[in-house]
Amino acid sequence: MTGFALMLSYVLGSVPTGAWLARTRGVDIRQVGSGNTGATNVARALGPAAGIGTLLFDACKGALAVAVGYAFGADALTAALCGALAVLGHNYSPFLRFAGGKGVATTLGLLLAVNPVLGACALAAGLTVMLVTRLVSLGSVVGAVTAVLAAATLGGAPWQLPLVAALAGLLVWRHRANLVRLRAGTEPRFGERVAAA
Ligand code: G3P
Repeated sequence: MTGFALMLSYVLGSVPTGAWLARTRGVDIRQVGSGNTGATNVARALGPAAGIGTLLFDACKGALAVAVGYAFGADALTAALCGALAVLGHNYSPFLRFAGGKGVATTLGLLLAVNPVLGACALAAGLTVMLVTRLVSLGSVVGAVTAVLAAATLGGAPWQLPLVAALAGLLVWRHRANLVRLRAGTEPRFGERVAAA
């Protein structure tokens, strides 16, 4: 039964919210801005309401996948792995030929469901950086690193730190192009116009 929950979680995570929402407005999100399917790029292409909708739906995918695990009788680790599979589905979606997003909102949803204190620490740090710098990618990476530090220092189940570290590693890897632009000083700040992908 837990095998089915894991599979279902991957399919749930792979629903490409941003790409499908953009398609309903006649926009190919992969050809706009950063080309990412996440909330930031959807906001660039379609405005803040669509961005917030994408953010909420993508975060719900992570949290819902954890709930799916529990609903199928999984233990805490397996339920968290369901959340991780939703992140993998989001980043490597079969609906987009295994392209996808960077996993920020879905990872946050997972973290809030698995360990709300960890999720709140990551959210607070990430949001602060985003508000101060208007660099969403920098805030996302800082939030991920904060989650690892919080998992290492706040205690919790022994599997939490390796799982959070793996998810943070994946998130940073998906932001590698952003990190190159951040280093070069060319990463667009939120609200700035960007060239097509
Ligand atoms: O949602 C991912 C965010 O951290 C960066 O998005 O479109 O600027 O690459 P983007």
